[in-house]
Amino acid sequence: MAEPAIVAEHLVKRYGVLEALKDVSFSVPEGEVLGLLGPNGAGKTTAVRILTTLLRPDSGRAIVLGRDVRDDAARVRASIGLAGQNAAVDENLTAHENLRLVGRLTHMSTGDIKSRSDELIEQFSLAHAGNRLVRTFSGGMRRRLDLALALVHRPPVLFLDEPTTGLDPKGRTDLWTVIQRLVGKGTTVLLTTQYLEEADQLANNIVVIDHGSVIAEGTSAALKGRFGSTVIEVAFRDETAATTASERLAHVGTVARDGSRLKVSVSDGAPAMLETVRVIDGAHLEPTSMALREPTLDDVFLALTGHAAEEPPVEDDVSEADLARRGKHKTA
Ligand SMILES: Nc1ncnc2c1ncn2[C@@H]1O[C@H](COP(=O)(O)OP(=O)(O)O)[C@@H](O)[C@H]1O
Ligand SMILES: [Mg+2]
Repeated sequence: MAEPAIVAEHLVKRYGVLEALKDVSFSVPEGEVLGLLGPNGAGKTTAVRILTTLLRPDSGRAIVLGRDVRDDAARVRASIGLAGQNAAVDENLTAHENLRLVGRLTHMSTGDIKSRSDELIEQFSLAHAGNRLVRTFSGGMRRRLDLALALVHRPPVLFLDEPTTGLDPKGRTDLWTVIQRLVGKGTTVLLTTQYLEEADQLANNIVVIDHGSVIAEGTSAALKGRFGSTVIEVAFRDETAATTASERLAHVGTVARDGSRLKVSVSDGAPAMLETVRVIDGAHLEPTSMALREPTLDDVFLALTGHAAEEPPVEDDVSEADLARRGKHKTA
């Protein structure tokens, strides 16, 4: 069997007392997409920074296309592209100028830079804006340009750190299409995301991380199988009604009650919805709302960890107290 294109082996990274990665391992076979799924602060960017030579792990190994990122950083860099949450574009240059700059930095010939830049502008639907200053771009255009910049030197391995966070639904699906096209051409991709739906759409395999540890791993179908592929939400006027309903709905799926609201995780959405209606009607209970929806990362977290995906304080505001508290959290 061929060696995977990306290997993370027992990665550990500490920032002071905070253990951002605690023994994280995963691998990505050549030509596949791995979705690294986790909430804010899970350690996704830290893992990406290690794999892209920008950060040294305290222990563990990272290998890209057979090369150790520590011993062979320059050659690893030449074979990878990185597009991040904080788009690395120069606001005061045009799209074409940004692309040409990257071409020069990666030592491409003038002719190649020109043709590659035209090709990418076209491919990323930026033709109408190629000569406009980037500071006039929308968020979606900026992300597409950022991705284009990561591809100038035709890297076989691509790292995408939350490529669609902050984009509107249209911007998000547009970017998914672009990523799918790249994958179709054989690029190996490691993608981080906070959206289960995004990992579901793009990734062959999903690794779920929380507080620096891998808490689940598998195909989207396998993961969904563990917590149900559909969620039925029912709200009642009071807790008594919700409690009664939750007891009677136990055969429909996995029921979780939060006050007067119920969440039923099921694997067969439509028939389960029908049965839920029958049961509630049969019990003469009156729901105030009922909805059928796809599971979110929060549902996965609840199912896997028993707690919701929480938001830690923003990075710049980390106080000693926060660090101490979070240091404690990990052993809890
Ligand atoms: N340079 C840093 N110094 C101190 N703490 C950091 C630094 N970078 C990240 N962290 C902390 O490490 C944890 C993981 O961060 P990160 O890898 O950015 O997570 P994610 O990308 O999943 O949101 C968070 O608790 C974050 O606050
Ligand atoms: Mg991040």
